[in-house]
Amino acid sequence: MCGIVGYVGPRTAAPILLDGLQRLEYRGYDSAGIAILTPERKIEIKKTQGRLSVLLDALQGSTPPGYLGLGHTRWATHGEPNEINAHPHADCDGRLVVVHNGIIENYGSLREGLRAKGHHFTSETDTEVLAHLIEEEYRGHQGPDEFVTAVRRALKQARGAYALAAFCAEEPELLVGARLFSPMVVGLGSGENYLASDIPALLPYTRQALIVEDGEIVALDREGASIWNLEGVAISREPFHIGWDLEAAEKGGYPHFMLKEIYEEPQVIANALRGRLDGERVLLPEVDKLDLAKIQKAYIVACGTSHYAGLVGKRLIEEFARLPAESIIASEFRYSNPVLDQNTLVILISQSGETADTLAAFRLAKESGAPTLVVANVLGSSITRGADAVLYLQAGPEICVVATKTYLAMLAVLTLLALDLGQRRGLLAHSQIAPILQELRDLSAKVDRVLDGAEAIAEIARRYADRKNFFFIGRGWDYPSALEGALKLKEISYLHAEGYPAGELKHGPIALLDPEVPVMALATPGPLYEKIISNIQEVKARRAKVLAVAAEGDKEITHHADEVLWIPRTLEPLSPILSAVPLQLFAYYVARERGCDIDKPRNLAKSVTVE
Ligand code: G6P
Repeated sequence: MCGIVGYVGPRTAAPILLDGLQRLEYRGYDSAGIAILTPERKIEIKKTQGRLSVLLDALQGSTPPGYLGLGHTRWATHGEPNEINAHPHADCDGRLVVVHNGIIENYGSLREGLRAKGHHFTSETDTEVLAHLIEEEYRGHQGPDEFVTAVRRALKQARGAYALAAFCAEEPELLVGARLFSPMVVGLGSGENYLASDIPALLPYTRQALIVEDGEIVALDREGASIWNLEGVAISREPFHIGWDLEAAEKGGYPHFMLKEIYEEPQVIANALRGRLDGERVLLPEVDKLDLAKIQKAYIVACGTSHYAGLVGKRLIEEFARLPAESIIASEFRYSNPVLDQNTLVILISQSGETADTLAAFRLAKESGAPTLVVANVLGSSITRGADAVLYLQAGPEICVVATKTYLAMLAVLTLLALDLGQRRGLLAHSQIAPILQELRDLSAKVDRVLDGAEAIAEIARRYADRKNFFFIGRGWDYPSALEGALKLKEISYLHAEGYPAGELKHGPIALLDPEVPVMALATPGPLYEKIISNIQEVKARRAKVLAVAAEGDKEITHHADEVLWIPRTLEPLSPILSAVPLQLFAYYVARERGCDIDKPRNLAKSVTVE
């Protein structure tokens, strides 16, 4: 995600920037940095690896003087989270600086082009490319308008997502910002102005703000802000008043981080796919590092929600790549004396990259000479070091202890992986992949549609929040969704919820059903639909209430279920991505009804670093 803050005005910039970064640290904490234009018109950059506190210690209270500056707190996507890769990044001569939040997809080709023109790069980041691109466009020009134009021309060459802020030594009162798919807001003061990724950074200084929209560029001086689109057409926008307090602002106005993160899911899916779909092909260059000709089997190893993503991953890999795959809980895998050799691919999934059991399984795989592929969210985390290949979720930090948006990102990335493996094994013709890729591209909008129905789900949750026991059942692709739905509910509402294969219910758990035990049945369209309807009948015969997750347009289900949580129609292998959303919302609203500590549930930790 990354946090950006900028200041132009009569006050010393550094304390304002550092304070803003503190309020944005939730957006990333791999490294932090500031750049200040000193009164001698020199750009001074101070940056360190790690949290903002490391930067504050390094500065020891002595910050560069100056009234124009930028700050950045990083959530790494390209390049290790070290000091060199920390933002701000400068051009060749140190005459301009940029900070960036997002991903520049075509940074490789842009960098090659710039190198050929003599530009010298110091970091591995995609961001540094922007600094040199602006330098190239600004060369020989002067004046504030020319700098804004240079930024605009540079951005027209970049593909991907960005919130960007920049200034140059020639213009001591000019801050330029731009946005495409990453947030950016302007704070309007009196004789001073601010730029930030998010409102919390502005709150101590002003309550007047302007939103910068996608595809816009903004120039700030002490007097005000001007906005243009990337074609250079001026845009007028009315400021708005910020009514939030600090806590509400950090959560983007949502009552909990969990809900905020659920509402980020459409964007998270887009980010997981970003740069990885090329027309009718999946592009995962990371997988080049594996010798696929040798691989005969895959183990998928993970804990918690990541394990449930792994269960879906197993099916995806078998479906699209026809590679035998097994998904195993890490704490079991490591002690099961698994058969591992160079022909067995071990796929490890971990949001944090620090889960002790998953790390132990990773070490076991490496010692056995098995190739390893890691799916992780946190760049540079322990599990990513020494892996043969790493696929990042690109989902940004997840603050709520229970996983929501990263589960969807895992499913999206595992789908891409399965398709990529299928392509490489020569099993998938372009014509087969094309409709799947189209559906993947449409998923963000479909998740949005589920979110539009949140109020109806809240209403259902209210009616069932006083029950003590729940069952979640599903078959086939729906089975992992049932497990994850039950896990979400028990984690945050402390209610007993059991996920079960629907066909297995009659072999025991059905004895527990009575009118007080609601059953959430996953009933998405597919060849097993009639089977799940039969299982629902078994449940109803015990007078248990049935809640169903079903696809829009399914009239049949309304005859069988007491309540329906609707999702849009999609391809069967993608249905777990959509089914997760109403189940997350259901768990959320039940927990809220019960007054639980949703973001920090008792006894749970975001990352479990002990065995
Ligand atoms: C903890 C968290 C879960 C998470 C699991 C695995 O139990 O509370 O939300 O799914 O760890 O974490 P990982 O970071 O390895 O995905």
